[in-house]
Amino acid sequence: MTSNYLVIGNWKMYKDIEEAVSFVRALTPMIQDVQVDVGLAVPFTAIASCALEASDSLMIGAQNMHDATTGAFTGEIAASMLVDAGASFVILGHSERRHIFGETSDFVNRKVHRALEEGLIPIVCVGETLEEREEDKTWDVLQEQIDQSLANISNEKIKNLLIAYEPVWAIGTGKTASPEQAQEVHEQIRAYLEEKWGEKGKAVRLLYGGSVKPDNTESILKKGDIEGVLVGGASLLPETFNAIVQNAKI
Ligand code: PGA
Repeated sequence: MTSNYLVIGNWKMYKDIEEAVSFVRALTPMIQDVQVDVGLAVPFTAIASCALEASDSLMIGAQNMHDATTGAFTGEIAASMLVDAGASFVILGHSERRHIFGETSDFVNRKVHRALEEGLIPIVCVGETLEEREEDKTWDVLQEQIDQSLANISNEKIKNLLIAYEPVWAIGTGKTASPEQAQEVHEQIRAYLEEKWGEKGKAVRLLYGGSVKPDNTESILKKGDIEGVLVGGASLLPETFNAIVQNAKI
């Protein structure tokens, strides 16, 4: 990856294979020569078809995985299977996984280790709830999530992952953190990563997610420590997603 901004779409549980492939076909010419790194985290069923359809300017990834290599884990999917299907990155610890499915940071940590071993780029999500923010616990919550989710990741490996700060109260709600609020947290995250992992930690790419739209992309990315965006709802239409990509040009 380069020093371009990064725009990742998270489709969540939307789109069948045909819809997914049509999206990739429509998006490809729009982002052909754009100086932005672009990726789509698609449903498991669409990874292989999208990866076949995607050109070099589009990375295809997954939204979750299990930490074991193989085994009796009905309904789960291994990192190596995602790689086999053509995924190059995986979102881990998304707040919907943490809050709806009860995933702990410890589980996320095991997945991060496995993803790195299999050569998948983990995008590790952290974020506080509205209640935690109102109780002034934002940094405590984030620090704990970072400490636990990234436990025992070496200085060598830390540079191979990304962190997405996604305040839970801004996801799917239309409420975006203001660029200043987002920057404040990103700055804290960067300083903390440097404290723990030195220069390599400082270099970790940081994304913001939570109600990102074409019209707020530029102001979010203008802030120094935000190097990309993770987009949910606004990634479902090629035109809207492309508008975000175009607004992320340096
Ligand atoms: P949103 O979702 O853009 O719809 O708020 C972001 C996310 O869940 O990653």
